[in-house]
Amino acid sequence: MRMYDVILHKRNGGKLSDEQIRFFVDGYTKGGIPDYQASALCMAIYFRGMDAEETVTLTKCMAESGDMLDLSRFGDLSVDKHSTGGVGDKTTLIVAPVVAALGGKVTKMSGRGLGHTGGTVDKLEAIPGYRTTLSEEEFLCQAERIGVAVIGQSGNLTPADKKLYALRDVTATVDSIPLITSSIMSKKLAAGSHNIVLDVKYGSGAFMKTPQDAEILAKNMVDIGKGCGRSVAAVLSSMETPLGSNIGNALEIKEAVNVLKGKQRDDLYEVCVTLASRMISLVRHIDVTEAETLVKGAIDDGSAFEKMKEWVAAQGGDAESLEDFELLPSASVIYPFASPRDGFITGIDAQRVGDAAMILGAGRASKEDSIDPSAGIVLLKKPGDTVREGEVVARLHTCDVRRIPSALAAMNEAVRYGDEKPAETPLIYKIIT
Ligand code: URA
Repeated sequence: MRMYDVILHKRNGGKLSDEQIRFFVDGYTKGGIPDYQASALCMAIYFRGMDAEETVTLTKCMAESGDMLDLSRFGDLSVDKHSTGGVGDKTTLIVAPVVAALGGKVTKMSGRGLGHTGGTVDKLEAIPGYRTTLSEEEFLCQAERIGVAVIGQSGNLTPADKKLYALRDVTATVDSIPLITSSIMSKKLAAGSHNIVLDVKYGSGAFMKTPQDAEILAKNMVDIGKGCGRSVAAVLSSMETPLGSNIGNALEIKEAVNVLKGKQRDDLYEVCVTLASRMISLVRHIDVTEAETLVKGAIDDGSAFEKMKEWVAAQGGDAESLEDFELLPSASVIYPFASPRDGFITGIDAQRVGDAAMILGAGRASKEDSIDPSAGIVLLKKPGDTVREGEVVARLHTCDVRRIPSALAAMNEAVRYGDEKPAETPLIYKIIT
């Protein structure tokens, strides 16, 4: 078989056979197929697409390109969640202990933040002592013992995706639905969980800008997961505005604790309850309404927060810092961002707030950058709230005062004002099962 013929076949709109897809994935992962031919095929897939059968094969081949975690010891209690990424998205920090408190086995490998989006691993590292690297046996034993373990992406999982994603990033082929589907689902398959709940975001801070595009992606991922023998559900949620109020690593840990302690019942709480209920419904084979009652109960009776402390302590983190926020990193500069006028807040653009948080030190412009765990933004207002001229809308946290002017400029672009209260838009657009 020649790679030239595989490219030509797809370029002309043909359907790739299982053999052709396997030849490409194996050859590219092992170095036998050069970047220029792989990028030509990605571009052909971008324009010509792939049908469900081709996407299943591509996903399976990518999942099998490296190690695959064996979670058979958990039976069908293993459960994973994946968010397509956003601003202020700290749902894993809340959902993982809730689900573990209710009997699920949450084994999760999370990523780091890049650009305007945050990453769970960076958030967890804001907790003094928390170890994001565990050996495979430590990881599995911890999940067996307490029901939850969350680490960074490690080992030789999906090397095909690592190479392909880096290539797509520089060849304008990221936003192709079959390529995103196979990239995300191959990692989920290799990570081994039987049950998978996907949080597919749409809006300014998300990859998919409209709910309709997010729905196409979500349906594709659910079908592919099911085609590979997993139980999958997808929640489509808005990322037009940051989720919750805090953006930035230590700030998001504090907010997750507040939700788990039952002190915060907002958009963040709603998305977390929806995700956790879907996970529990799959794990315990119960109706979603019953699962939701259990999820809310685990927050109200404190068992989910106790589980978070147990989890953090098991991974070497200072669980006391979850009770006493003085023990978490804190910024030396806290600067107010005030409203220039009276009126309503009509919008807070998630992407621009994410940019402002990155400028303050909470995120990375490139993979090599270091981050300041204390940096970020606390929003005191959300769309629909009234404001007075000079009233504080947000507080900017940083350890480097020189970053304030550019962060203020990004915030000025992020926050929109008007005379009329904006129409409410749904937070959860649809659930796909
Ligand atoms: N996230 C991934 O892991 N892969 C993609 O292709 C896009 C988003």
